[in-house]
Amino acid sequence: MKTSAIILVGGEGTRLRPLTLDLPKPVVPVLDRPFLKFQLDLLRKASITDIVLCVAFRPERIRAVLGDGHADSVQLTYVLEETPLGTGGAVKNAEGALGERVVVMNGDVLADMDLGAILKMHGETRAAATIVLHPVDNPSAYGLVETDQTGRVTRFVEKPKPEEITTNRINAGLYVLETRTLSLMPKGVPYSIERGYFPALIASGERVQAFTHEGYWIDIGTHQKYLQVHLDLLSGRFPHEIQASRRGSGYAHETAVIDPAAVLEGHFYVGPGCQVGAGSRIEDGSALISNVRVQGATIRQSVVWGDTEIGGGSLVEGALLSNRVRVGRHCHVGRGSALGDGVVISDHSRTS
Ligand code: GDD
Ligand code: MG
Repeated sequence: MKTSAIILVGGEGTRLRPLTLDLPKPVVPVLDRPFLKFQLDLLRKASITDIVLCVAFRPERIRAVLGDGHADSVQLTYVLEETPLGTGGAVKNAEGALGERVVVMNGDVLADMDLGAILKMHGETRAAATIVLHPVDNPSAYGLVETDQTGRVTRFVEKPKPEEITTNRINAGLYVLETRTLSLMPKGVPYSIERGYFPALIASGERVQAFTHEGYWIDIGTHQKYLQVHLDLLSGRFPHEIQASRRGSGYAHETAVIDPAAVLEGHFYVGPGCQVGAGSRIEDGSALISNVRVQGATIRQSVVWGDTEIGGGSLVEGALLSNRVRVGRHCHVGRGSALGDGVVISDHSRTS
């Protein structure tokens, strides 16, 4: 049986703005690579190399980063929605490019799932669909999934209200679907897989199976989670071979220039072409993605993208800085700050 995969990459990434105003969420940098490469790894490990990317928002930016997939040993097919069709409409739109069975993934989830085991359970239970579940503290931002004792899904409630929260297990954003069941979806109109297809499939009496993933799982779609994923990769909570050399308990790329009078501590990443000048401090949870110049400033628990410059005596903490940002001298870029492309912060300024 032919199993293909779909990755849903057409969302606008509104909660990650301004980082995603120009760059779609699936290809934002996470340490040393565009995010989607982690998902390609997961699929390739399960020998799934025939992958459809359902694109709608800035498709050219995704194609520019991933091309035809050759460099990642996969074959990528791009299926475009002229206007976004939602999570279900996107899958329906790609129906013609699929085999008999399809793995569908949200394009913003990082997890160490055992896809081989998920596919095995799907086959053994003869399910029409299998949904991967993950326990979280608060399901309200996710899709809540109820099951019976046999692991059969009995209810799917997207973004449940407080009074609807009956379990801590949520939709982890990865499904295996029998392609024939896409007949439940309308064609060419916006449609939600979570609000439409799953409730309809459950109501039809078909077997919808749950597979609980207890390991690492994160949706990178908010500022706080995007910072968190960097810390998790740097601290080894999610294993990943970072393309840089070890330096203390952090990593520095071989092309980074670090002054001996700079202090680097905790779990950090200094990427290609970065310059860290005398008197700078790069502290725990910080990632300088590429060509960042820190000239005697302190960076703490922050992610800083390319070609950005931070002046002497400044403190950047708990912040996200995108490309070509200029932070002057003696500034405080505080917790929760998120600076878009080309922002200039003049000397002695404070943000949040
Ligand atoms: N092609 C396409 N077209 N993709 C879309 C569209 C669309 O119109 N709308 C959203 N997507 C993609 C996004 O790019 C993202 O990769 C994925 O679908 C999920 O969208 P999000 O906007 O990130 O949804 P969410 O995080 O609020 O909720 C979803 O994920 C949770 C797990 O992280 C739901 O599936 C929840 O049920 C789930 O718990
Ligand atoms: Mg999401």
